[in-house]
Amino acid sequence: MVASGKNNLDNLLSNRVDPSAGDFSEALDAAYRDMNITIATSRAHYAHNLQADHLDYSHEDIYATAQEALTRAIADEERTALILGAGGCGDIPLADIVSEFDKTVLVDTDTSQTECALGALPFAMLGKISLIKADVAGVAKGFDRAFGQAFTAKNYKQYTQRAAEILRGIDITKSRFDPGQKYSFVCSHLLATQLVNIPIMYLGPVSAERFNRSFDPFTPSGADDVELVEAIRQQLVDIPTGHIDHLRHLVKDNGTVHFADTLTARVGGRWLRALTSDVFTRIDTNFDRLRGATTWEFWADPELGYQVGSFALAPKDKVVS
Ligand SMILES: C[S@@+](CC[C@H](N)C(=O)[O-])C[C@H]1O[C@@H](n2cnc3c(N)ncnc32)[C@H](O)[C@@H]1O
Repeated sequence: MVASGKNNLDNLLSNRVDPSAGDFSEALDAAYRDMNITIATSRAHYAHNLQADHLDYSHEDIYATAQEALTRAIADEERTALILGAGGCGDIPLADIVSEFDKTVLVDTDTSQTECALGALPFAMLGKISLIKADVAGVAKGFDRAFGQAFTAKNYKQYTQRAAEILRGIDITKSRFDPGQKYSFVCSHLLATQLVNIPIMYLGPVSAERFNRSFDPFTPSGADDVELVEAIRQQLVDIPTGHIDHLRHLVKDNGTVHFADTLTARVGGRWLRALTSDVFTRIDTNFDRLRGATTWEFWADPELGYQVGSFALAPKDKVVS
């Protein structure tokens, strides 16, 4: 018998692809895969030194909020965990969650690193796990279509106008991933800003290159792309705030949510805001805080630093939106 590996996983796991991530362009698939390879590579170099505190704090916070969900579950209720943007799971107390919940569902747009992480778990645990390739916000294909206009538009101006129009039409409330049930514990760890950043960072430059233009999602390169940059900025607010509403829809009324993301990122020697304040307003509209927020610095490598904010949340009585 082989101890681990993809074939074993295919047999033992409930594994599927959601339509939200079913037919990504090659460039988009590569964007998610490359991002996860970058994370895995920097983890291999720095997990034991530069990233050690970040990994400890992440595990502690996620575990504490998961425990609170188990405490709140009523007798005989199925205790279920949903891990969104699971990636390589290095910052998630995966084995503890899988062993303590009745069922764990892992979701990512790129499941290759998640499969590696699952390959390290004992076989007996795999029967309690489902792995779904899905786009949590359901917006990635919209970005794909927007930036793909570069390849049919006759010039840069036409491309940016068409792309802006498509981006303005993206509405997370209509596209978000629906797993068909609610969960006792929902984990969204360093995902919310990635929902927008990965498509922009990877697809934007490729498209602009076709017209020999530089691309910065925050600064127009001239009058031609003001409209596109404005549409991107709007989605940088709407998608993460919509994600908070989504978390409320995904969790049971007596469940808990772990939400963490980068508050600021160290870019070019300056700390730049990542999450907007609208996200915090939306957290407090939907949830009560189980304890005070925690913050810490996360250095992915010596050049790339983030400030992480971590929130332990329990739903307010009503689903707000
Ligand atoms: C910063 S990583 C999380 C780190 C990961 N837990 C680890 O330890 O390697 C964010 C993850 O979210 C995934 N992701 C990004 N956008 C997504 C989306 N729209 N839907 C689902 N997963 C997404 C990425 O593929 C990546 O695995």
